[in-house]
Amino acid sequence: MKKSLCCLALCGAFACLTAADKVIKLPPPDKTGGKPFMQVLTERKSKRNISDKPLTMQELSDLCYAATGVTRPDGRRTNPTARNIQDIVLYAAMKDGLYRYDPAKHELLLEQARDLRPFCGFQTQMHTTAPVVLIPVSDSAKMKAKRFPTDRIAVYAPMHIGFVVQNIYLYAASGGFATVVCGAVDTKKLAEEMKLPGDSLLYVTMPFGRE
Ligand SMILES: Cc1cc2nc3c(=O)[nH]c(=O)nc-3n(C[C@H](O)[C@H](O)[C@H](O)COP(=O)(O)O)c2cc1C
Repeated sequence: MKKSLCCLALCGAFACLTAADKVIKLPPPDKTGGKPFMQVLTERKSKRNISDKPLTMQELSDLCYAATGVTRPDGRRTNPTARNIQDIVLYAAMKDGLYRYDPAKHELLLEQARDLRPFCGFQTQMHTTAPVVLIPVSDSAKMKAKRFPTDRIAVYAPMHIGFVVQNIYLYAASGGFATVVCGAVDTKKLAEEMKLPGDSLLYVTMPFGRE
C-alpha cells in the first residue's frame, strides 16, 4: 500500500506528456524557489549540450511562468512590453505537438499534434534532442491595432522577444537547465510550419532541457 502511494506521488510530480493533450493544465508555478539572483546572473550562459530527459510538469509550469507568466492582478507579466501591449506569444514545440502558452489560464493549448522541432533551427541534432523548444513570437498586429508607428514596431518586437529570451536564460541558470538562444533558424519555413498569422514576427528559438 505504502509502495503504491509512493509510486502515485512520484508519477504526479514527474508526470510527462505521452499523447497530444489538447489542453495541458499546468500546476501553479513555484514562485519561491531558485538560486540567489546575483548567482543566477553569474551562472547565465548558453549551453548546447541538451539531453532528451523530459521536463516534469512543475518544471514546464515554472518555465512558462518565468518566460511570460502573469505576476499581477491586472494581468501584467514577468516580461515588460511597450504600453503593456503584451504582443508576445510563447510557443513550445515538443515531440507530441506544438503548444501555445495561455498566460492568463496558465495552460498550454495544442496547436498541432506533430513534432515541429526539426524546423526549429539548423543545429537540428540539438533541437530534436531537447524535450522542448521555446519560440517567443511577437504578434505585431496588436501594435498595429494600437497605431504604434511602423519604425517603433520594428524596434519593440525584437526587444520584447529579447526580454522573454533573457527570462528563459535566467530560469535555466537558476534551475540548472541548459538552453541557448538560436538565430540560425529558417524563420520563414518555421513560421509556415507553425501556421502563424501573417503579422507574427519570429526571430529566434530556444531548445531547453537538462544537460
Ligand atoms: C541573437 C542571438 C542569436 C544567436 N544564435 C545562436 C545560434 O543560432 N546558435 C547557437 O548555438 N548560439 C546562438 N547564440 C548564442 C551566442 O553564441 C552566445 O550567446 C554567445 O556566444 C555568448 O555566450 P553566452 O550566452 O554563454 O554568454 C545566439 C545569441 C544571440 C544573442
